[in-house]
This record gives sequence, C-alpha cells and structure tokens, in this order.
Amino acid sequence: MNILVINGSPKGDKSNSLRLANAFIKGLCEEKKRVKLSTEVEQLDVAKLHIEGCKGCFACWKATPGKCCIKDDMTMVLQKILWADLIVYSFPLYYFNVPGTLKNLIDRQLPMVLPFMSEREDGVGSGSHDARYDMSGKKYVLISTCGFYSSKGNYDSVCQMFDHICGKEKYETIFCGQGELFRVKELHGRTDEYLRQVEKAGTEYACGKIEEDTKSKLEELLFPKEVFERMADASWGVSKESGEKEAESLVFTRQMAALYNPKSHDGKDRVLEMCYTDLGQTYQILMTTTGSKVVTDGSLKYTTRIETPYDVWVSIAQNEIRGDEALMKQMYKVSGDFDLMINWNKYFGGEEAVEEKQTAVSNKAKKPPVMTTMLLAWISFWVAMSVNEQMGPLVTLAVGACIPLFMHKHEIVWFDKLSIAATALLSILVLVTENTFLGIILSYFLFGVMWLGSCFTKEPVCAAYVKYDYNGEDALNNPIFMKTNYIIAAGWGILYIAMAVWTYLLSGTSLVQMVVLLNNIMPAFMGIFTVWFQKWYPAWVAGGKAK
Ligand SMILES: Cc1cc2nc3c(=O)[nH]c(=O)nc-3n(C[C@H](O)[C@H](O)[C@H](O)COP(=O)(O)O)c2cc1C
Repeated sequence: MNILVINGSPKGDKSNSLRLANAFIKGLCEEKKRVKLSTEVEQLDVAKLHIEGCKGCFACWKATPGKCCIKDDMTMVLQKILWADLIVYSFPLYYFNVPGTLKNLIDRQLPMVLPFMSEREDGVGSGSHDARYDMSGKKYVLISTCGFYSSKGNYDSVCQMFDHICGKEKYETIFCGQGELFRVKELHGRTDEYLRQVEKAGTEYACGKIEEDTKSKLEELLFPKEVFERMADASWGVSKESGEKEAESLVFTRQMAALYNPKSHDGKDRVLEMCYTDLGQTYQILMTTTGSKVVTDGSLKYTTRIETPYDVWVSIAQNEIRGDEALMKQMYKVSGDFDLMINWNKYFGGEEAVEEKQTAVSNKAKKPPVMTTMLLAWISFWVAMSVNEQMGPLVTLAVGACIPLFMHKHEIVWFDKLSIAATALLSILVLVTENTFLGIILSYFLFGVMWLGSCFTKEPVCAAYVKYDYNGEDALNNPIFMKTNYIIAAGWGILYIAMAVWTYLLSGTSLVQMVVLLNNIMPAFMGIFTVWFQKWYPAWVAGGKAK
C-alpha cells in the first residue's frame, strides 16, 4: 500500500496534527506488516514546497489537457497523488477550514479532473467533474487538530469541502480539539493516551474500518472545557488583567494550578506555596471547591510549602524525573501538610485521572486486598487458643477455611494464603502434640519471620495492602513509600521474633505475668508507632532532615 501524507501545517514536523497522523500511520503500517503486506510512506510538507496559486486560465483543460501551465512542485505532487493508494491530509484548522497553502494545493489539482459537467450520485452540491484518471480505489483520511476545546462544530466547512472532493462518507476523519496541548510535555500522560487511540484507529483502519468504540474515544475531550481553557489562557504567558508578559515561573505555576481538580476538595481549602529557591520567587495556589487561583503577593497562609529549584520542578512536571525519587534525593523540600504530596494525582491529575481511577476500581471484579484477611488467620489462632486449648485448633481450622468466604469481596494475596496455611499447620501441630505452649511460641516466631522475611522481597507485608491507597503498583517505585514500609515490616518482624524468644525463656519463671503483660502491650505500642511513623517518616524526609 502506498501512503501519501500531505502535511498542511506550516510548522512542518513540529505540527500537532502530524503527531496524530504519524500515530495513525504507525498503527496502520504495523498491522499491514503483521499480515505480511508491504507499505510505503511518503510525506510532503506543503510549507517546504513551492506551489504557486492557480491562475484560473484553464490551460490544464484546454491548451494542454491534464498539464498545468505553471512549472513548480505541483507537478511532483500530482504524480505522488496518482502513486498513492491512501492519501492522509494532516492539517491544522485555520479559520474553520484548511490553511491557505493547503487550499492552494487542492486548487491546483484541477488538471486531475475533466472539464465536462457531470452529475453526482451522492447528492452533494449542484454538479461535478469526473476524474481524468482512475481514482476509484483511492482512500482518504483527514487528520487535524484545532485550537478550541472541542472539534465539534468547527469542521463543518472542511467536511463540506471534502464531501465535494472525495464524495460523502468516502473519507475517514480524526479531528481533535485542544490541539496545542500535544506540544506540552507536562501533559504527555493524557496526550500520549490519546495518541495510542489514534494508533489503534490506524490498526483498525488497516483491517477495514475504525471501530465505533475507538471513534467515540477519539471524540472525548483531552481535558474538561474549564481545565483546558484555564491552561490555554495561562499558556500565552500574558497577564489577563494587565496584558503584560509574565515571568516564566508564574506562567508555569498558573498551568499547574489549571490542572487542579475541584472534585478532589475534601471540605478543606488548601494553599500550596511554590517557592522557587534559585529564582527567589514564591507563588501560592489557593485550592477551593470552585477551582484554583494563583496568588502572587504571598498573602495566604500555606498548608503545604514546596521549596525547589525551578528546573527541578519543571523536570518533574515533564516526567523527566519522578517526584518521589527527587524528594528522596533531597532535590526539593516539603513542609506542612504532606497529604497533598501523597495524593498529588488526585489533586492535580486532571479530572479524567480521578474518574478513570474510580472506573478502574469499580470495574474490577474484586476490591483490593485488606490486611484484615491476613490478620484474621493469626488473631483467630491466638484468641481461640487462649479461650479453649482443646477447641482452639479446631476453631482456627474452621475460621481459616471460612476466611476466603468472609473476605470474598477482596482479592486474596500471597500473605493471606501463607497466614491461613501457617495457622492451619500450627493448629494441626497443637492437635497432634497437645502442646499449646509450643504452638503459641511457634506462631509468634512464624508471624515475625513472615514480616521480617518480606523485607528481603520486592514487597514487604504492609506494602502489599496499603499500596492501593498510594497509586497501586506505582507505589512500589516510590522510594519513600518503600522505605517506610520496609522499616515498619522489619519492626513487626523483630518484635514478634523477640516475643517468641522472651515468651519461651521467661514463661516457666516468676516473670510469667510480665510476659503476658508485655505480649499484650508491645503489639499495641507497635500499632500506635506504625500509625505515627507512616505519616512522620515521609514528612521528615520531605522536610530535608534525613541525611
Ligand atoms: C491563523 C490561524 C487560524 C486558526 N483558526 C482556528 C479555528 O478556526 N478554529 C480553531 O479551533 N483553531 C484555530 N487555530 C488553532 C490551530 O488550529 C491549532 O493551534 C492547531 O493545533 C495547530 O496545529 P498544527 O500544530 O498541526 O499546525 C488557528 C490557528 C492559526 C494560526
């Protein structure tokens, strides 16, 4: 298949629309390759070609039929059009139509049609000219971005023109609003997702047609209207009030503020203070139920303050470095409410991010795993054993067997299975040996070994459960999250192994009462420590105090 891309953007390879066209062609060519069909792609950049305006002399119809009297690059363009099986017109929307240079190229296609009047069968317009050459097998795709928030209602004139040129419904279209966002690195998360859909459309087109589901995804807005318009307004770098040019760091902060999602508001207004240490500039973002506002005079009391070199924050925003990694390396500091940092995506991920996450969670067959599942196995063993030594093991076995039933709404993870198996084996051991003391000592020991042992794996026990509150699997790449969880897991592991030792050593002595007391107090104390530590430690690192 010969594919001709006519790039009508004056920006050449920097065109937003061309990014979409390239994604489409990638999907198409890969699919053709997969089915062992060859493709050849040629791109013509209208801006680089010398194409004069049509003179309207009709020489191409009269004096030299099929040949234009102007000798310029259009001769080559016409040959390429004849060569192509598929012509992809990639262009920006200019004043609700194609840019003038592309219109020029379209006008100059007059030599390709015959002068005689002909009737149309598709009811478009009031007449036509038949093609001079056999164009019947040719296919056309229009790919374009425009500057308004939506493509809806902006392409009427483009479609009317191509209805005349190609015939109604004889061409495929991909029109995308918010086109300028494709060049914003900070937004690549969303725009890349859109480009993946365009690529998919290319794959489907290679198989026959773009599926309805893909089409409707391509019609979705990149960002909600209000968010986009705030970002677009901020991107010009000019103050809305004074019309004056603004500092780059202020423009950047305004764009960050534009991404704030008011739906994340939890009843508490927040003030994020951005202090660019190298520039000596501080801006505040007020986050309320109705939206965000950038305050430049420092008049608000911050709830979270970020002290960072400007370039570091730009690199983070552009996904060149991970924010959590940079924090761990002390490239910036955070003081005040750390919750904002932990839930950054919720506050600044754009509305789609939050909604998509919610749909992803609600679409999942099971809820995320909970630590209760794992603890239920152990606690049932300890309680049952202390209440009744004869019935205890049987009760534990029964509870263990029922845990998957009780917790059927949640995913069951490796640690849950391990705990159910371990407590079942311990119960059988107690039943066989009738030695409850041994069972208890071993249970403390195994519980401790599970926690401590998990510190030598990629996922300590606690992380396997709490990661779902911190962006799921992505939390495992967050060094602060991981370090916090390794410390907590090691703490619990050491405590329970120590508990096994002191219970074993001291139970037969006069200190037995103290052992009972210790075995109740220490886990409670560790629980309080865990709750405190998981909040304190990340904030301590963020405050730049960990050296
Ligand atoms: C002269 C001019 C006219 C434009 N007219 C429109 C328009 O009518 N509607 C619209 O939504 N965007 C309009 N835009 C915005 C462009 O369509 C938008 O920036 C597009 O993403 C640029 O694509 P490109 O990078 O492929 O050239 C216009 C831009 C320029 C420079």
